[in-house]
Amino acid sequence: MPLDLGAKGSCQIGGNVSTNAGGFRLVRYGSLHGNVLGLEAVLANGDVLDMLNSLRKNNTGYDLKHLFIGSEGSLGIVTKVSILTPPKLSSVNLAFLACKDFFSCQRLLQEAKRKLGEILSVFEFLDIEAMDLALNHLEGARNPLPPSIHNFYVLIETTGSNESYDKEKLEAFLLSSMEGGLISDGVVAQDINQASSFWRIREGLPEALNKAGVNYNYDLSLPVEKMYNLVEDMRARLGGLARVVAYGHLGDANLHLDISAPKYDDKILAQIEPYVYEWTSKHRGSISAEHGLGLMKANKIFYSKSPETVQLMTSIKKLSGGEYDFD
Ligand code: LAC
Ligand code: ZN
Repeated sequence: MPLDLGAKGSCQIGGNVSTNAGGFRLVRYGSLHGNVLGLEAVLANGDVLDMLNSLRKNNTGYDLKHLFIGSEGSLGIVTKVSILTPPKLSSVNLAFLACKDFFSCQRLLQEAKRKLGEILSVFEFLDIEAMDLALNHLEGARNPLPPSIHNFYVLIETTGSNESYDKEKLEAFLLSSMEGGLISDGVVAQDINQASSFWRIREGLPEALNKAGVNYNYDLSLPVEKMYNLVEDMRARLGGLARVVAYGHLGDANLHLDISAPKYDDKILAQIEPYVYEWTSKHRGSISAEHGLGLMKANKIFYSKSPETVQLMTSIKKLSGGEYDFD
């Protein structure tokens, strides 16, 4: 299955497709737009659209299935899916690394793409605030690295077909990154239990945030080199009002920015919005990278899409039998 995400135990494939869920392995396999070969959808008037086939190539006019991927049920409900599944590969390695600053994480990503190339399958990051939440709110979670202050952590997975070749490649990459000062500490999982304890920290972050209090939640696409400036700007704006927590899919330039507070407070919200959207728009980012618009962000669409584009979306929505208003 080319899609993997923290919600795998409870989510459903129709929902994944409808929301174009991204998850941890998009960096390797691409989005569901590239992996869904066909689907069946039911429109509001009950019409069943059979677009279900398993062909790799099919250039016969509009590829309408793509309209149902990521449109969050606004055009119809996805009822069947055909997905491209690559062979499951036997050699998987997982490394939990520490970096002193965000620039090092950024350079590490470039190096990982160059030096790990085709075997890179995950590149995730979390900052010290996220790690702190995980350690304090997730049962049984512990820092995989010896105690020391690290500002950033990176999770890198490789997936390939040759164990000794993959290991050698990963070790050479880690060694040169260590020597170059990009990594300040790191550990490679020695068995499946250790690997799950690394994953527990990363996958558990939404749970840790929920346990810590209430949460203003942003899912942004931003140029990697600018991404953490927003986090720092937000910290400066909020002062001591709330905690600013950052993590996400660095390999896909996708930041999860969470503002965590003991309770909802209009003073906090006024510092965050519309600032966060304006900032994202100014850097030509997206105000929703992988979580969709839902109801809460529907009227924020204009920060990421032009009025003409939204106009056409509205027309398509009407054509498919429903009303959908973005404001
Ligand atoms: C994650 C969810 C929040 O990356 O998208 O954990
Ligand atoms: Zn995510």
